[in-house]
Amino acid sequence: MKKVTIHALARKKQQGERISMLTAYDATFARLFDEAGVDALLVGDSLGMVVQGHDSTLPVTMNEVVYHCRAVQRGVRRAHVVADMPFMSYQASADEAVKNAGRLVAEGGAHGVKLEGGADFAEVVSRIVRAGIPVMGHLGLTPQSVHRMGGYVVQGRDDQKARQILADARALEQAGCYALVLEGMPVELAAEVTRRLSIPTIGIGAGPACDGQVLVCYDLLGLNPDFSPRFVKRYLDGAGLVMSAARAYVEELSSGAFPAEEHGFHAPGLRLFPAPVSTPGEAVVDDEDDDAPSRLYGTPV
Ligand code: KIV
Repeated sequence: MKKVTIHALARKKQQGERISMLTAYDATFARLFDEAGVDALLVGDSLGMVVQGHDSTLPVTMNEVVYHCRAVQRGVRRAHVVADMPFMSYQASADEAVKNAGRLVAEGGAHGVKLEGGADFAEVVSRIVRAGIPVMGHLGLTPQSVHRMGGYVVQGRDDQKARQILADARALEQAGCYALVLEGMPVELAAEVTRRLSIPTIGIGAGPACDGQVLVCYDLLGLNPDFSPRFVKRYLDGAGLVMSAARAYVEELSSGAFPAEEHGFHAPGLRLFPAPVSTPGEAVVDDEDDDAPSRLYGTPV
């Protein structure tokens, strides 16, 4: 199986092929998305919202991203894995940024890191790249700057802001970024950034002209019925499916339909009370090989 490298992503842009990216936070979903052919998995700091239940990405820590990244990379055989650098893991100094990016690769098993910000972070990007770590940039609506933006607001709607984003995109490309996420910006601006850059752009709420698209997997799977922004397409009614499965489980427990005979294990020779006494000539029967090694995910056999 050919792994998706940063060079494979660059070739996709050159050949006009779309890049698919989804967020992933654990090995089970990572395995499914990888097998489905998703090119890149982002261990996004969106985990702070969808996994941890915070109202922003700001509380997410380095240790938490490392933990989720390790889980994701265990589920992956083909996809490129990129880990988000959480809030304040790269803003204070380039030295700290290099060390933290290194942790995501060495401990988390990431193939690249992503950070938010424009030309102001060009030096940080080039220091991380010089350390041998590929960097994905992130422009437009940058959730770690939620307070500066005054909320999750589409960016680059006026000429001045749009020109600033174009200049930032160029600065990040020159600093060595291998790809850019373009989030929450007008379709026309994302198209122009995509046209002017030689590195791939990956859009979310930035229109169809980007070289690829990314979605938060919980949004794609429709796991939060209360969150339906314009840029999300739900490919599954995940919330409905999960809730009806949980309701059926509760019902079957109260009716006694689950667990049924086929869900249990037997040891007919087991005598628990009084304690078994071995009678000469009588063997204790054990018809289940409880010590056999498990075959899959620790399934008892
Ligand atoms: O954290 C995240 O999931 C992201 C994507 C929305 C691009 O940064």
